[in-house]
Amino acid sequence: MMELGFTWVVFVAIFGGVVALKWVLRSVNLWLYETKLADKRFSLPPGDLGWPFIGNMWSFLRAFKSTDPDSFISSFVARFGHTGMYKTFMFGSPSIIVTVPEACRRVLSDDESFKPGWPTSTMNLIGKKSFVGISSDEHKRLRRLTAAPVNGHEALSMYMGYIEDNVVSDLDKWASLGQVEFLTELRKLTFTIIMHIFLSSESKQVMEALEREYTALNYGIRAMEINIPGFAYHKALKARRKMVAIFQSIVDERREHRRKNPPTSGRDMMDALMDVEDENGRKLDDEEIIDVLVMYLNAGHESSGHITMWTTIFLQKHPEFFRRAKEEQEEIIKNRPPTQNGLTLKEVRQMKYLSQVIDETLRLVTFSFVVFREAKTDVNISGYLIPKGWKVMTWFRSVHLDPTIYPDPKEFNPSRWDELTPKAGTYLPFGAGLNSLILSAP
Ligand code: HEM
Repeated sequence: MMELGFTWVVFVAIFGGVVALKWVLRSVNLWLYETKLADKRFSLPPGDLGWPFIGNMWSFLRAFKSTDPDSFISSFVARFGHTGMYKTFMFGSPSIIVTVPEACRRVLSDDESFKPGWPTSTMNLIGKKSFVGISSDEHKRLRRLTAAPVNGHEALSMYMGYIEDNVVSDLDKWASLGQVEFLTELRKLTFTIIMHIFLSSESKQVMEALEREYTALNYGIRAMEINIPGFAYHKALKARRKMVAIFQSIVDERREHRRKNPPTSGRDMMDALMDVEDENGRKLDDEEIIDVLVMYLNAGHESSGHITMWTTIFLQKHPEFFRRAKEEQEEIIKNRPPTQNGLTLKEVRQMKYLSQVIDETLRLVTFSFVVFREAKTDVNISGYLIPKGWKVMTWFRSVHLDPTIYPDPKEFNPSRWDELTPKAGTYLPFGAGLNSLILSAP
């Protein structure tokens, strides 16, 4: 009897200890980040700062590696209600997740109150001198310089012939191979195109080497910041070092070539980056040029490769939408003058249904499911406080999968766009505001 009583006491003590330890650990982030806000902490949105150091990263990564990534946000909604804003601790910082259109729009468009707030791990991988790491003035200047040549219809018409030739020859190649790893091939294709725009021509070996390193880099961007051999982040840092070395040799070669040869009209983005000067006549140094290249070449091929893959999968799964998109293409070809070779911008503009297919894919997949900002000052949105220095994550997935905006949100239905003009803030595949590099749909 005595023995049973003793065992019971030990059990209760261990249980109590574990509960107390859990309580202490769950309170660490609260003490570290909320207590210093004094009374202002009562205006924070509801939420949970998770465990010390890792915050809610574990549940986030678990959800995004499962078949139900939205279970992460659903757990906040289930615990704290449909408040549209939640406090959390992710990517090493206390953060506010914003899940509703109005608040997302406010965060993305209010440059007085918010600045880019990418995690340090992303900055270390993409580059401290790329857009993710520089001041807003510098950012605006580089954006002006680099966005125009890759954005809008004029740019599209300039590269259309090159894109068409490459797509046609790759389709022929894949058909002859019988079976291909589709995403890998698409990534190679989109990478070839973006390399052409930025660097005109590079050898196939250089392109393949760079593309391989980008794959490792991207795994690291989505991983925890653990710089230990074997972990994705460590591999990504290694990949970045290799990429920087390759880009450095490309920059050296280009500078050498420009020294020996008079300027020609066939300038690409690399020439533009080498020529640009600020108001004081300062040019970009090699490190700045390389970081902009690392960023653009990544942004320019990953997203387009994935979206092309998903569009193909969705069309294959839904023959009725495929038929409608195909009929549109056949109609365009039928009306083409017999002397015309290749696609024209006018024809691209006629692809109304295909453009709906792509809009729907962008909505349903939401490839960039979140973007990061940092509050420059205390900001109040919908009655909740975003404290100065905290990060904000605009959670586009929640907006795009909101059934009150998009009925049956998980259904792929391009025809929903027949009559739909999305209200401001409800369709954000490219973000919004100054940082959104909108690649205007035809
Ligand atoms: C399906 C295609 C694409 C999607 C879904 C996409 C999505 C996005 C999103 C959500 C952002 C963040 C905007 C923000 O911070 O508010 C972004 C930024 C950016 N994207 Fe894209 N993008 C796509 C294609 C491209 C392409 C083809 C390029 C380059 C040729 C590109 C270059 C960039 C750059 C440079 C930024 C950073 C802009 C800045 O901080 O000023 N993107 N993109």
